Amino acid sequence: MGIGAWLEDRLRWRAADAFLRHKTVPVTRHGYVYYFGGITLFLFLVQVVTGLLLLMYYRPTADAAHESVRFIMARVQFGWLVRSVHSWTANLMVFWAFAHMFGAFFVRAYRRPREMTWISGALLLFITLAFGFTGYLLPWNTLAYFATKVGTEIVGAVPLIGHPLLVLLRGGEDVTEATLSRFFGIHVAILPALTTMVLGLHLFLVQLHGMSRPDARGPARSMAFVPAFVLREAMVWLLITGVLVTLAVLLPWPVGEKADPLASAPAGIRPEWYFVFMFHTLKLIPSHVLGLEGEQLGVIAFMLAAAVVLAVPLLVRDDGAGRASRVAAAVGAFGALYMIGMTILGYLRP
Ligand code: HEM
Repeated sequence: MGIGAWLEDRLRWRAADAFLRHKTVPVTRHGYVYYFGGITLFLFLVQVVTGLLLLMYYRPTADAAHESVRFIMARVQFGWLVRSVHSWTANLMVFWAFAHMFGAFFVRAYRRPREMTWISGALLLFITLAFGFTGYLLPWNTLAYFATKVGTEIVGAVPLIGHPLLVLLRGGEDVTEATLSRFFGIHVAILPALTTMVLGLHLFLVQLHGMSRPDARGPARSMAFVPAFVLREAMVWLLITGVLVTLAVLLPWPVGEKADPLASAPAGIRPEWYFVFMFHTLKLIPSHVLGLEGEQLGVIAFMLAAAVVLAVPLLVRDDGAGRASRVAAAVGAFGALYMIGMTILGYLRP
């Protein structure tokens, strides 16, 4: 029996092979957005590989964490490369997850029957942000320590469950070694497990429904998934690998000073760039608004915004004339501009 027939007997792989041979991808004006999900997926895979390598040397205790990261950067063969690629990729992955979300939004890929693809995607975006937030603390440096203090304080402003949530995250009232070990557990076990499940569902649904076609007008042109689309996507992945390695070589990720919990917070503490729009908004809100604490109001607004992102497919109902879609596009454009504007302001006026 040939190897092909042997495998077919056990895995029924020819069905998958036939599926891939018949799969097509629409050729449209905005065809580039079909690459964004694949880019995010590639960056996630890089994170898995580099993260596993980092695990071999990283030690999650307040005493040893910073030292172990310095050791990775200075002593471990190619340790500096692996860690710098991991840190750069984390940032690019957040960027592309947002780009993919806005891309899917503006081509209206959330419409029936892709509602669950969108919802699972939104969950993946939140998980990606949680990866960034928890990973940031792991080198246990001054910036990360105080940014985590501020970040978890903001979580504490969530109405009703804020304080219990803060204690749960920190492992006590303060940011201590307990926080480090919790963040480590969340970063290397809980979030990867969640991602595997949600990403599995997301990719399954993408295969089930195929890629959406934004406009029904015009001739329905398409290209073969294998090899045309796969080769193009592979070229993009290669290009990104080049960008990542260049960034890691020219700008190795800094280790910073070891955190000193007894020291006072240095001036200009700011979270990672992708949280700056929220951080700056909270700074601009007056301390009391309509009898509510300003920070609480801001946190409620962001929770509502997250709920709106999740519920996009349920909120935007096309009315046939496409008016609902146009209103949604305007709201989406406002959201994107708001995030960009607030991020820039956050950097100009720390
Ligand atoms: C870890 C994060 C994510 C990964 C790895 C990922 C991966 C993918 C991949 C590989 C595709 C197929 C190619 C494409 O259409 O670009 C896809 C499609 C899709 N994704 Fe994601 N995704 C992620 C996050 C998101 C987010 C944040 C959203 C929106 C909230 C989203 C919504 C969608 C939708 C609606 C489609 C179908 C697109 C269509 O049919 O045209 N995804 N995703």
